[in-house]
Amino acid sequence: MKQKVLITGSNGLLGQKLVNLFSNMDDFVVFAISRGENRNDTAKNFTYTNIDITDSEKLTHYIEDKTPHYIINCAAMTNVDQCEKEKEKCDLINVEAVKTLIKCVKENSIHLIHISTDFIFDGENGPYKEEDKPNPINYYGLSKLKAEQIITQELINYTILRTILVFGIVDNMSKNNIVSWVKKSIEDKQEITIVDDQFRMPTFVDDLAEACLLAIKNKAYGIFNVSSSQLLSIYEMTLQIADAFDLDASYIKAIPTSQLYQPARRPPKTGFILDKSKNSLKLIPLPFKDRLQVFKNQLLNQ
Ligand SMILES: NC(=O)c1ccc[n+]([C@@H]2O[C@H](COP(=O)([O-])OP(=O)(O)OC[C@H]3O[C@@H](n4cnc5c(N)ncnc54)[C@H](OP(=O)(O)O)[C@@H]3O)[C@@H](O)[C@H]2O)c1
Repeated sequence: MKQKVLITGSNGLLGQKLVNLFSNMDDFVVFAISRGENRNDTAKNFTYTNIDITDSEKLTHYIEDKTPHYIINCAAMTNVDQCEKEKEKCDLINVEAVKTLIKCVKENSIHLIHISTDFIFDGENGPYKEEDKPNPINYYGLSKLKAEQIITQELINYTILRTILVFGIVDNMSKNNIVSWVKKSIEDKQEITIVDDQFRMPTFVDDLAEACLLAIKNKAYGIFNVSSSQLLSIYEMTLQIADAFDLDASYIKAIPTSQLYQPARRPPKTGFILDKSKNSLKLIPLPFKDRLQVFKNQLLNQ
């Protein structure tokens, strides 16, 4: 029997990747919801509906009608500075909508796969294990932690995949990610200033989509870290991007975080310990450099 999967936030970076992945597999029927018109021009075999996930009544009716076996929740307010400035809106999307999903999940025995973030940590003691104590230092991180806490308190089948600085390409992207932004800026001959005192393990969106599939296939319940395998400063990352795309790295200038003046604070050093996802999810983490090459090939074949 085919399994029904519902992907929320299907217009986003991860959402589109998931629609592409699942709609190419015979075992799944794919339902996709997001705000506004469908922006995915690649996938054909799926049903799209425009639903704002903060509309709890519409969302509940939709889920009750479609009766999915799995919900992968990719819808979120992901702009960290916007979350800091618009806290109520952030709560509605990142926390309240999750409560609606949980209610539906409970009533219909659905496996919920939810995406969370390294920003639940303060970045003082990274890399982090799944069970380390969270301490968010910005509102986005707090909202994502609140959602995690609500999910883990319920007697439901859930998988929380925490991830870091996601990059990749899909159709009609509404926002930049680190790789596309650095590449375009240098190609446009613009100097860019990059912090050299923040450390991350960036995640290729294809790997995150694969982790969602593995969570379903392996019935892997609980919290899992998902990222590439090496901790790099953001400055080091941009040098690797310049190298991978044969770009002039002299356009990249290193600066400290104190010179950025962003509305929301950023954790200095996150990164993940990946043993649990290697053992239970069967996910193989790879270096950023290697994933950049795959990304480059995807761009060449577009
Ligand atoms: N990107 C990262 O670096 C990163 C890092 C750690 C964790 N994550 C988490 O990973 C998940 C996926 O992120 P992503 O990079 O794919 O983000 P994204 O590209 O910003 O996608 C989020 C999608 O959610 C949609 N959305 C927002 N509010 C909605 C609402 N009220 N109703 C319906 N749809 C709504 C957005 O619609 P519009 O396109 O119309 O705005 C967008 O298509 C999120 O949970 C995020 O918190 C991301």
